This record gives sequence, C-alpha cells and structure tokens, in this order.
Amino acid sequence: MALFTKAVKGTQDVLPANSYKNRFLENTLLDIASNFGFKEIRTPVFEHTELFARGVGDTTDVVQKEMYTFLDKGGRSITLRPEGTAGAARAFLEHGLFNEPLPQKVCYITSCYRYEKPQSGRYREFHQFGVEVFGTPSPAADAELISLANEIFAFLGIDDLTLEINSIGCPKCRAEYHKALKAYFESYKEELCGTCLDRLERNPMRILDCKSPICSKIAAEAPVVLDYLCDECKEHFEKVKSYLDALNIEYKINPKIVRGLDYYTKTVFEFVSSNEKTAGLVCGGGGRYDGLIEELGGQHTPSLGFAMGLERLLSVIEAQGIELPGEQKCDIYIASIGDKASLKAAGICTDLRAEGVGAQFDIAGRSVKAQMKYADKIGAKFTCVIGDDDIEKGEVAIKNMENGEKTVLALDTFTDDFSSMWVQSAANALADSLSNEDFASLDINNLMGGLK
Ligand code: HAM
Repeated sequence: MALFTKAVKGTQDVLPANSYKNRFLENTLLDIASNFGFKEIRTPVFEHTELFARGVGDTTDVVQKEMYTFLDKGGRSITLRPEGTAGAARAFLEHGLFNEPLPQKVCYITSCYRYEKPQSGRYREFHQFGVEVFGTPSPAADAELISLANEIFAFLGIDDLTLEINSIGCPKCRAEYHKALKAYFESYKEELCGTCLDRLERNPMRILDCKSPICSKIAAEAPVVLDYLCDECKEHFEKVKSYLDALNIEYKINPKIVRGLDYYTKTVFEFVSSNEKTAGLVCGGGGRYDGLIEELGGQHTPSLGFAMGLERLLSVIEAQGIELPGEQKCDIYIASIGDKASLKAAGICTDLRAEGVGAQFDIAGRSVKAQMKYADKIGAKFTCVIGDDDIEKGEVAIKNMENGEKTVLALDTFTDDFSSMWVQSAANALADSLSNEDFASLDINNLMGGLK
C-alpha cells in the first residue's frame, strides 16, 4: 500500500487494541494523586517561548536544542510545551492561586514535545503525569511526593524501579560549586562541544547533562554538588532522608543526579528501571524548585514536583509482564434476522446500555453467520440471535460464550433479567479470580454497587 504520508518521526499512535491501558493508567494516576489532595490542572499545549527560556533555563539542552518553537501569524514566538512544570507555575501566578490556601497541590496529564533523537523510550511527542506542590519549604513535602510515586508503583505492581536521590543545593552553595566546576572543565576546554563552551561561562552545571559523548565522558569525573552544600541545604537533605526512612522508602544516594532543567534546588530524585528489558530507563523524576515562582515574577514560594513519562511507565509495566485491566469487551452481542428483529435488537441494546451493559448489534447489514463470526472476534461474553419467531414467541435464548450454557429470557423483561445475570456472572468471575484472603477484605456492597 502506497501511503500518502506517515506519522511524524518520534510520535506514536495508540491503537484501539491498546488504548485501554493508557486509560487505566491515567485514571489510576489521577485517582491516587487525588487521595493525596491533588487537583487536576489543564494548561495550554503551547506557551510564549520566554516562559520556558526563563523557567526551564536558556542554557539547558531542552531550551537550546529540543524545543518546537515557531512564530505564529501574529509574529509571536510560541513553543510547544517540553514539560508541564513551567505552564503550571505560570497558571499558579496568573490566576492568583497563591491567594488560595497553601500549599496548592496540582496534578496533570499532558502531552510534551522535545526534538530529541528518537529511540526506545524516547519520543518527540510523549506524555507526562506530573504533580506540583506550590508553597512549602518543608522536607516532609519532598518525602510526601516520593511516597506518592511509591504508592503508584506499588498499586500498579511495579517493583523493579530504584529511587535515586540527591541534593543540588541553593543559589548560595551553587556559587561555590560553579567555581569548582569551572576550574575542572577549563582544563578540557579544547574538547567540549560549542554549546558547553558557552555553558562554561554562563552555567557550568549544565555541561553535566550534555548528551554529546565527549562532554558526558569528561563530566563523569567532575566534582559533585553534594560536597558543596551549605548547612541549611545539608540539614534539609538529612530531614528528607529521615522522612523516607520513617516511611520505609528505600533509596540510593546518587550524587551525579543534577536533572536537565535549571529550576531545581535542594532535593532532586529519579526513578530508574532495573528490569533487564528496560534497564536504566528513567521513568520519572523531579525535585524542589524554590526559586521558580520568583523567577517568573511572583513572591518567594518554595515549591516542588515530579513527572513520570507515561510511555516509559507502560514499557516498564510490559517488561514486568503486568496485565492492566479494563480492556473493553462486549458483554452481549445481539444478532438478528430480518428488519423487524434488527429494530428489536437496536431497542434492547439501547436499554441495556442505559443499565451499564456493553451491548452491540449488527450495524453492517450482514448475514447471521457473519454476525456471529464478528461477535466471536470481538470477544462477546454472551450472544443471542433474534428472529421473527422469537418476537412472536416473546422469548429468546442467550448463550454464555465461555461455557456454552443457554438461558431463555422473555423479550419483555430482557433488559432487567440480563442485567441481573450479568452482575451475577461478573461477581462470580471476580470471586474466582480472588484468593480467599482478598475476598474476605472486599466490601461486597460497594463492589456490587460498582458492578451495577
Ligand atoms: P523530566 O525528567 O525532563 O522532568 O521529565 C520527566 C519524565 O518524562 C522523565 O523521567 C521521563 O520518564 C519522561 N520523558 C522525558 N523526556 C521524554 C521523551 N523524550 N520521551 C519519553 N519520555 C520522556 C520534567 O519534565 C519536570 N517537569 C518534572 C518535574 C515536575 N519536576 C518538578 N515538577
């Protein structure tokens, strides 16, 4: 097939066979965040370029090399968001959310755009689940965010991620650290890439996350920021660690984490996969950004957050062989013979759907044999065939496609009768899939309410 065009490099289609996983994941993330008090925020997909240049930092790889920036028809420089924090911070300021009780806790699921070299787990359009807490300097908040991430991984059954933490200090300790970095990189001036030569003068820390192989080799031996922390930052980091210990959250201190965005201060962290299929993949990361709100024109507002890459989470889930629930199945397929029966099938389906049952009938004008083949392919749990005789008799036999059992239902009370059967069979299937212990801990009333 000669295609007119294909999807742009670095972008992905989520096809119908898989989209239920994204939906389940997104709902789960938002639900768990909500239990921690986070409310969803939605910001535009594009912003004025200066927001990212100022917020993310104009010496970062993201701003210097990876942004999708264009002039709109009014001649304004516009950028597709490369990440979610800057937009959330702008909205926090623009809408006076600082007047609401602090800390303000927001979460989001967004598409992000970075012109990176596409490879496994790295896309040019990708999706982030992120959380931001505006207005707290307390180390308890740092631990709370990490605990939220941990809860998400535990709920999803992901157990092969390592939490790596570091502190990259405040502007005070950073000044000393920059001097040390400058002295170190000066001796490699001949080998650094052009961008890093400029960074050497303006922001030597950014050389540490340059993706050029030569720069990253030189950076591997550079001094680490943890050795330059001021007393306040040291104490803050110690307190974050004591909260993590108290919450039994395992972590590894990685003094090399500096993160690729300029706004970070103090605590930074990443979740790194240790699964052999996705080893080294960073599934999420974040940290404190105590100066960002001020940088964008607000009052001093210590803040922090993290984001997870949804595509990366899904690949870790797949690597671990975790099955996500929620694949949309057809609860009943109502085949029909003739026009009168087709009208009846359409009516029954409408009534069943109003009761929350996934019901389908033939909308392609096919033979009954082809209808049944289709029902089988879409995985219908029950089927029935309505013909003129059945309408006359006022009853029809439905078939459980798993065990072949047939049950005759009156057409007049079909919706009510089938709905009760369906709830019962869903409850049986759930009970079969649970251990005794799980079953004992279930709130059955609540469960039955949910099934209905
Ligand atoms: P980030 O580390 O640049 O941080 O991105 C967060 C996560 O997005 C990464 O850990 C990764 O899972 C995913 N990600 C990043 N780039 C790509 C890509 N090209 N393809 C696929 N996934 C990717 C931030 O964006 C910060 N805004 C996080 C944050 C929120 N910090 C504080 N609050």
